[in-house]
Order: sequence, then C-alpha cells, then structure tokens
Amino acid sequence: MAGTLRDEVVVVTGAARGMGAEHVRGLVGAGAKVIATDVLDEEGDALARSLGDRVVYLHHDVTREEDWVRVVAQAEARFGPVRHLVNNAGIVTFGAIEAMSPETFRHTLDVNLTGCWLGMHVAIPSIKRAGGGSIVNVSSTAGLQGYGNLGAYVASKWGLRGLTKTAALELGRHGIRVNLIHPGPIRTPMIADLDADQLTSTQPIPRVGEPAEVTALLLYLLADATYSTGHEFVIDGGATVGQVFDTLEAL
Ligand SMILES: NC(=O)c1ccc[n+]([C@@H]2O[C@H](COP(=O)([O-])OP(=O)(O)OC[C@H]3O[C@@H](n4cnc5c(N)ncnc54)[C@H](O)[C@@H]3O)[C@@H](O)[C@H]2O)c1
Repeated sequence: MAGTLRDEVVVVTGAARGMGAEHVRGLVGAGAKVIATDVLDEEGDALARSLGDRVVYLHHDVTREEDWVRVVAQAEARFGPVRHLVNNAGIVTFGAIEAMSPETFRHTLDVNLTGCWLGMHVAIPSIKRAGGGSIVNVSSTAGLQGYGNLGAYVASKWGLRGLTKTAALELGRHGIRVNLIHPGPIRTPMIADLDADQLTSTQPIPRVGEPAEVTALLLYLLADATYSTGHEFVIDGGATVGQVFDTLEAL
C-alpha cells in the first residue's frame, strides 16, 4: 500500500531554510515536483538552483491571500494541479501576555494560523482538481502544552490542531487527508540562539532533533499514511512524555 511521490506536485511554505528547506530536498529525492515558497528570496533562489528543474522558488508571504492565489496558479501552470500542501512557514515571538503588544500577538497568529487557513482555503480546489492528495500542517510541542512568555506562538499552534481536524472532516470525502506535526526542538535557525544542550537535557532522547528526522515523518504522512487523517504526530525526543524522578525525595 506504500505510496509514491514521484512526479506529484507539492507546495512547501517557509521553504528557504530550516525544516522547510530540508523538506524540499527530501521531496525532490522522492521524485516530487516542488513549489518552494518563502519571503527570504536569496536563500530560496539558492536552494532551488542547487536542486535543478524539479524545484521552483516563488516569493510568497503566507499572510497575503493574493500571494497564495498567485502561487497556486503558477504551480498549476508549471507542473499541474497541486496534490500536496505543506504549511510549514512560521515565526516565534517572545513576551509575557501583559507585555506583548497586540500587534505582535495578531501578527504571530496571522503568519502561523491565518497563513495556514489561507493556504488550505486557496489550495483545496487545486488539490481536488488533482484528484485528491494531502495536507500537512506544522504545529509544535507548543501546540500540546503551554510555554510561559510564548503565548502568541502557543495560541497559534494550538489553533492549528482544531483547524487540522476540521479540514480532515471536510475533505475526507474528496480523498484529501490532513494531518499535523508537532516537532520538539529541531536544529534550525529558529532556535539557533538557544542553549540546545540545556533545552534537551531532560528529554528521554537528550539531543536536538535534525530537520531530516522531521522530513522522514513528513514523507511518510504525504505518501504512506493512507489510513490517517485529522491526527497529530509528535516528533520531540520524548520531551512531552512526562518527567523522571531519580529519587523518591525528588517527588
Ligand atoms: N525549530 C524548532 O525547534 C521548531 C519546533 C517546533 C515547531 N517548529 C515549527 O516548524 C516550522 C519551521 O520552522 P524552522 O524551525 O524551520 O524555522 P525557520 O525560522 O528556519 O524557518 C521558518 C521559515 O518560515 C519563513 N516565514 C516566516 N514568515 C513567513 C511569512 N509571512 N510568509 C512566508 N514564509 C515565512 C521564514 O522566512 C523561514 O524561512 C515553523 O512553523 C515552526 O514554528 C519549529
């Protein structure tokens, strides 16, 4: 029952660097045709050039509906209807609830949550024209628990859970699966300033994850997870599994 991504058209947002760029490399390796989009044009162009003519880079701000319409139209013109959508673009913003500006809160939701909704809103007709396919949205362990001073990010990532389940319910009958990934700390520019060893020292797998490990899960969800939809897949080194106490007194 294993699927194939050969010659299938995939749109990946936030694809210029980090996990998105690794997803593009993995998809090309699997034979897909990829529309890689981002607002970082220099990095995006360089990535596309390094991978040959199966990748097209397009400038794309996920908060702008007109950008989405142009991206889907250009994907269809170049490669044909979109079969898979990977809503990977995201930003993290820091600040306590009482300290963060409403503008920062709204902008975080605009990119991380509204951007994903817009992507599905605009791309679904194309995926239907392709005869079905799948969508993978990218949340975070911040979509599974709270994190102090990351309220906007947490709210946006929790929102993706409801959106993913709703989309799965609406789209199942059209042969479109919709799933969600919750990565823990992954080695990308987003967390480059953090102390990775300290961040991961209490995890059952006490290290930062590599983008390629997330790409493997993504490829599985797109090609092989033919009986999964509306679900959430955690890839976090066990970070959210629980706590270990080395002595009874430590309880
Ligand atoms: N790195 C981690 O530890 C981690 C953990 C959990 C979840 N995530 C999530 O994984 C996804 C990828 O993050 P990453 O770690 O690769 O970070 P990253 O910062 O390296 O990549 C994110 C990409 O999104 C792009 N982007 C930002 N705003 C955009 C916009 N308005 N329109 C289009 N593109 C935009 C950025 O330019 C960047 O290329 C994000 O959704 C992030 O929240 C990351």
